[in-house]
Amino acid sequence: MKYFLDSAKINEIREAYDTFGIDGVTTNPNHIMNSGKPFYTVLDEIAQFVREKGIEGYDKFPVSVEINPHLDDADEIVKMGKAIAARSSNFVIKIPCTEAGVTAARRLEKEGVRTNLTLVFSASQALIAAKNGSLFVSPFVGWKESSGEDCKRYIKDIVDIYKNYGYFGKTQIIVAAVRTGKQIVDAATIGADIVTAGLQVFKDSLYHPFTDYGLGKFTAAWDKTITE
Ligand code: E4P
Repeated sequence: MKYFLDSAKINEIREAYDTFGIDGVTTNPNHIMNSGKPFYTVLDEIAQFVREKGIEGYDKFPVSVEINPHLDDADEIVKMGKAIAARSSNFVIKIPCTEAGVTAARRLEKEGVRTNLTLVFSASQALIAAKNGSLFVSPFVGWKESSGEDCKRYIKDIVDIYKNYGYFGKTQIIVAAVRTGKQIVDAATIGADIVTAGLQVFKDSLYHPFTDYGLGKFTAAWDKTITE
């Protein structure tokens, strides 16, 4: 399963790449705001990072960049999507799953600009993303589970539907707004293609107290052993 980092902070992207071997990045307007930098400065920093690492191209290291959420007209979304995509071959245009959004995504895909339909909360929304040929679909789990829903069923439904109709792997499923190691494991067990999460979530998923306990025990044994 692929890991994407959900962040627009270049130091986090570097750390996640070096430590966890992340396969891509997803951003959204919140992440850009949290970086404290202007929108196009952040984009150019990420474009520079992929050049430096020799991972240019959305097929090697996709970076989802979300359009201005004020846009509610397909023509305007297409225009902005093209302007963003022109800045780096890694950029995939992240578009909200609305009527104008899916219209724009369909057009962009036909013109060779890859898209990620976001703010997806149901299997019926995810089916439209696949029918329109989006490269990615981003069903959220964190927000739904915070409000008491169990998301395993809905993610599994998306995987099953995609398998039933030959979309699986063509429109890749990014399980998004992932908050816990348990949600990563659920996504992997179900067979989703990708999870996207913040750096701390990946760090937490690596931690186990028994690993520290064992390390203490073996360190003590090492210190009581003649090692020369
Ligand atoms: C997904 O692609 C989104 O960027 C992300 O997961 C949104 O949720 P969050 O910012 O609440 O984690």
